[in-house]
Amino acid sequence: MKQTLNVKINENKEYLIEISDSNFESLNQEIYELTKNQKRLVVISKKVYKLYFSELNFSEEEVFIFPDGEKEKNYKNYLKIMKKASSLGLTRNDVIIAIGGGVVGDIAGFAASTYMRGIDFIQIPTTLLSAVDSSVGGKTAIDFNGVKNIIGSFYQPKKVFININFLKSLDKKQFMSGLGEVLKYALIEESCGYKESLFLYEFLALGVEKILEREPVTMIRLIEYCLNLKIAVVQQDEKEGGLRKILNLGHTLGHALEAITKYSKYTHGEAVVYGMFFILKWAYKKEYIPYSYYRLSIELIEKYGFKPLKHKYNIEKLVDLMKKDKKSTTSKITFIVPCNKKQVKEIKLTPLEAEFMFKE
Ligand code: GLY
Repeated sequence: MKQTLNVKINENKEYLIEISDSNFESLNQEIYELTKNQKRLVVISKKVYKLYFSELNFSEEEVFIFPDGEKEKNYKNYLKIMKKASSLGLTRNDVIIAIGGGVVGDIAGFAASTYMRGIDFIQIPTTLLSAVDSSVGGKTAIDFNGVKNIIGSFYQPKKVFININFLKSLDKKQFMSGLGEVLKYALIEESCGYKESLFLYEFLALGVEKILEREPVTMIRLIEYCLNLKIAVVQQDEKEGGLRKILNLGHTLGHALEAITKYSKYTHGEAVVYGMFFILKWAYKKEYIPYSYYRLSIELIEKYGFKPLKHKYNIEKLVDLMKKDKKSTTSKITFIVPCNKKQVKEIKLTPLEAEFMFKE
């Protein structure tokens, strides 16, 4: 089974996303066709290299094996990738291919966007999280000076290949992390401006078993629904001037939780889920959403095995981290808040108001 989605940012920026369960033979063939006249630098996650390299049709010479983990998304590794690109003699007509999770996609994409002022870039996400989020939409970045994604660019890939065979070997923690972002899409669906209702919320409520089993056709559908929503948002607001912020539901607290625990305790999706538990409750208390929708949404998240955060963190420190988040454009902190069924809106609070919000 294969689904193809089209992303059209403007007249000159358009690309395809393929979601399939085909064998690696046909993936190899498609990559060959797309890049046959190009030199290639393949930035591949170490884990993926160990598990799948023998099945992929790349030479050892064109590969840069990338260590896994957020802490590796730094300028030293970025420079190593640049060095490899230049030692391979890549020119402006050539291509960088990222194979791995969000870290690999972000840093390889940033390298592609800056090498010779921008060369072709192909994304092959191998985690659920990168498939439903970071591989699509053109955000590329590295972390610097303790701040996540502070150096980066908007740079759309030439093509995205999502092959769900990679998901089979994903450990449970990483799979759940992806589901965290998937659940987010269910809560924002009606704000994305997609042309029709996809009923992702209902699909998730009814499909728990098949999704947790990673049943191939269900996974293709699930990724397709999420990406249809993401594409709709990104096509309206590529550079996050407004609408794209809704993709950050649960992320204000989520990012602060990741930062306060130095990216070592919670996966990204897990932290986002804690953010969603919190903001759903707050939205209900403030009467933005009725009790019935609040309860159903909490139950939906819990059906996937998530529980609200138990550990108590210092609120002043959390809010301080939220202030430093690069997404704040003023001294105020932005929260995306559920305001109706499957709808969200943006609110901005002063740090003092935010502290109050968490202490209420
Ligand atoms: N991860 C959120 C975005 O792509 O805007």
